[in-house]
Amino acid sequence: MSKKQTTGWPALAAVTALSGCEGIQSALTPQGPAARAIAEISWAMFWGAAAILLLVMGLALYAVYRNPHKKPPSANAVIVAGGVLFPVAVLSALLAWGVQAMANLRAFEHDGAVRIEVVGNQWWWDVHYLDGAGGAVVATANEIHIPLATPVHVSVRTNDVIHSFWVPKLAGKIDMVPGRTNRIVLQADSPGVFRGQCAEFCGAQHARMALFVIAEPVESYRAWLAHQRAPAPAPADPAAMRGRDAFVEHGCIACHTVRGLGAARARGPDLTHVASRRMLAAGTFDNTPDNLIAFIARSQQIKPGSGMPSHPHLDQATLQALAAYLGSLR
Ligand code: CUA
Repeated sequence: MSKKQTTGWPALAAVTALSGCEGIQSALTPQGPAARAIAEISWAMFWGAAAILLLVMGLALYAVYRNPHKKPPSANAVIVAGGVLFPVAVLSALLAWGVQAMANLRAFEHDGAVRIEVVGNQWWWDVHYLDGAGGAVVATANEIHIPLATPVHVSVRTNDVIHSFWVPKLAGKIDMVPGRTNRIVLQADSPGVFRGQCAEFCGAQHARMALFVIAEPVESYRAWLAHQRAPAPAPADPAAMRGRDAFVEHGCIACHTVRGLGAARARGPDLTHVASRRMLAAGTFDNTPDNLIAFIARSQQIKPGSGMPSHPHLDQATLQALAAYLGSLR
């Protein structure tokens, strides 16, 4: 191996490691006040720990190389200063900072803020936008839209096991615990798409339990919400009409509500405006007709163990009609 190649590896490793710090799901590039407060404490702890490591290494070198003929400092003084006073001061300061930051992250008392409920399921996110009285005005899944620079109150619970709701660029983690409702505030200070991920192992498809938060100006958020409130449009073209009939005939509607067509009896993602979403199957892949067809036909190969059964018996024409219908649900 040439010398040039060997020097290239550390640079490549550094680029690879650092590229993980950018992007749509990094706590190191915060885009909201809560995530920023967490990042500040994290960096203070990182640099503080680095400084303390240097100090300890310096003291170890001093112990090795000190002049043996000179009288050493008193052992008791070193233990009291370095083992008691210094840790008590540093840990007290961190505790005070952490408690104050935590109180700000959980401030939940603004009137008129946007209120959302997110319910964890194996393995997808049920999202309800709530009115003032706590009733749901919009149901969607795996995608949350929020207005810019506005605190959004998110209450979280679970329908099955413990999940953890985490959108690293916007806020900290909050567990979804059976029998309990937890709360967190999301706020984005710049527009963008932020990826969230379930952060508590919840079964085979834990890794495929992602969601997206879209932060946008207030007007476009309001337009989005008004559109989501509306029932699904009736399909106009013949393929989509055949797809709608297949959706009912093959039992899709038993698990998936399409407002305007029918309400589900079992629990599956609301598909009323599924075509408006970026991704399918909780962030598993892009929302394209081909991916939709593949998922309907072979969901148990793509996301094994999920509640969505495979439909290997459906012919290509039916699958295409279903994709046309779901694609019309903008
Ligand atoms: Cu849900 Cu991990």
